[in-house]
Amino acid sequence: MSDAALDVVEFLLTASVYSDDRTLDENDLPPSFRRVYWTGGVDDDGENGDGESGSGSSGSRGPSRRPAGISRPLSVTTTTAREATGVDRPWEAVSELMFTERDEFSGTITLAQQGMAEKWFAERADEERLLENPTLAKHFADREEYNFDVTHEEARDRNRPIQADRVWIDALLDEYFDEEDDEEMLDLVEVRAPEEVDITLDDLVLTDDQQNELDKIAKAIEHRDYLSNIGLREIGKLLFVGPPGTGKTSTAQALARDMDLPFVEVKLSMITSQYLGETAKNVDKTFEVAKRLSPCILFIDEFDFVAKTRRSDEHAALKRAVNTLLKSIDNVSLIEDDVLLIGATNHPDQLDDAAWRRFDEIINFPKPDSGMRADILQVITRQMKIDEFDPHLIAEVTEGLTGSDLRMVLREAVLEALTEDRTRLTQEDLLNAVEEFEERDNLKNMDMIEGDHDALVAGGDIESAASDGGHSHDHDHDHSHDH
Ligand SMILES: Nc1ncnc2c1ncn2[C@@H]1O[C@H](COP(=O)(O)OP(=O)(O)OP(=O)(O)O)[C@@H](O)[C@H]1O
Ligand SMILES: [Mg+2]
Repeated sequence: MSDAALDVVEFLLTASVYSDDRTLDENDLPPSFRRVYWTGGVDDDGENGDGESGSGSSGSRGPSRRPAGISRPLSVTTTTAREATGVDRPWEAVSELMFTERDEFSGTITLAQQGMAEKWFAERADEERLLENPTLAKHFADREEYNFDVTHEEARDRNRPIQADRVWIDALLDEYFDEEDDEEMLDLVEVRAPEEVDITLDDLVLTDDQQNELDKIAKAIEHRDYLSNIGLREIGKLLFVGPPGTGKTSTAQALARDMDLPFVEVKLSMITSQYLGETAKNVDKTFEVAKRLSPCILFIDEFDFVAKTRRSDEHAALKRAVNTLLKSIDNVSLIEDDVLLIGATNHPDQLDDAAWRRFDEIINFPKPDSGMRADILQVITRQMKIDEFDPHLIAEVTEGLTGSDLRMVLREAVLEALTEDRTRLTQEDLLNAVEEFEERDNLKNMDMIEGDHDALVAGGDIESAASDGGHSHDHDHDHSHDH
C-alpha cells in the first residue's frame, strides 16, 4: 500500500477525530493540516462556515471580518486533502479502501467506517508518525488495544505552535490592518514567522555571558506562570549592545526561530519619515500587534534613536511619538503579555537614563576575541571544502574583525576561487581574502575630502575636482600608486 493512501487516511481520521473531540485545539493539528482550515481576518469565502457570526469588531469598512480560528466540523474535500497531504489525486489514493466514501455531488470524502479506518491506519503507521500528529496521538494513546507507546503531551510538545505559522500571522495582521490606511504602519513594523528565519543559534558563536543570559531568559519564559504568581514582573526586556556586525540582530532572530516565536521588528528610523501626526498612533498599534501575536519577540533596532530624539530639538510630534514608545515599553510585559522585548544599539554612549532604565538585562556583544573568531570561522565554513584549513591561524591575523567581517572575508575567498573555476578553497585563498578585506577597510576609513587625491580618483586626473573644493592639488606629480 502506498504512502499516499496512508497520508490521506491520516488526514481523514484526523479531521474526523478533531471534529468530535472538542477538547482538542489548533495546536493539536500538524501545521500542514491546520493551514488548510485556518480562516480569519478577512472572511472572503466563508468555506467552513458553521454559523459563526461574521460581525467582527471592526466590520464597518471593507470585507466583513471575523475572529481567526478553525471551525468544526472539518470537512474533507479533494481540494483540502490535496493541499494538506500533498497527494495529487487523494480520492484515487483511497478509493479502493472499503471504509472510504465520496459524495459525488459535494466532493466530500468521508470515512464510512471509522473503526475499520483506525485499525487499518494503526497497522501501518509507526510511532514517529503519531508523534507528528497530536490529535491522533491522543486518540490512539487512549485506546489500549492499539499498543502505541506515545502520549498526547509528547506529540503536543513536538508540534509547532500555531503562532509560528505564516497563515496565522497573516490572518491576524489582516484583521488588524487596513491595507490602505496602514501603509505607513507596514513600513514601521515587519513581522516574520519563525519558519521564515533561516538562522539558528547553532550558527552563532556566543560568549559565555551571552549564553548564560539567553538560557536565563529561556527559563523565565518556560516558568512565566510561576514568576507571575510570585509577583516578579520586571523580566524580559533585553538590550543588546555592541558594534556593528557582532550578531545582535542574528541572535534575536535565531532566538525567535529556536523558540518558535513570531519576530516583530520595529524600524525606529522609519518613524521620522512618516507623517508625524500618525506616528504616535502607529507606535501604539505596533505594540498592540505584538500583544496580539504573543508569544512573540518584539525587536527594536537602533534604540539610540530614542535618546537622540529626546535630546535634540526635534519636532514636538516626533518627541511625542518617542514618549509613546517609552510608555508602551513600560506597558508591555513578558510575564503578562508574553512579549519578549529586545532592543539593540551600536551607540550605548548615546542612551540616556530613561532609555537604560527600561531594560532589565544588558547583553554585551563585543568584537570576538581570537578564540571566538576561530569558532566563527569553523561555523561559517561548515559546508565548504578548504585544503590545509587552519582557523586558528586565520583568527590570529584577523584581530578587530567581527563575525560579519569574517563572513565577508569568506565570501571574497569563495568568489575569487570561482574566477579560477575552483569550488575547493585553500588556506592561501583565505589569507589573500583577509588582505583584500583590509585594503577595503582602509579605503572605507579614508577621509574622502582631505584624502590623497590620486588615491581617490582613478587615473588621477579629474579636471574640476580640485577647483570646486578650494583645494589645489598639484596635477603634475607622478601617478604611480600601487595598492
Ligand atoms: N558571533 C557570531 N557568530 C556567527 N556569526 C556571526 C556572529 N556575529 C556576527 N555574525 C554574522 O555576521 C552577520 C551580521 O550580523 P548581525 O546583522 O546580527 O550584526 P548586528 O550586530 O545586528 O549588526 P548591526 O549593529 O550593524 O545591526 C550575520 O550574517 C551573522 O551571522
Ligand atoms: Mg543589526
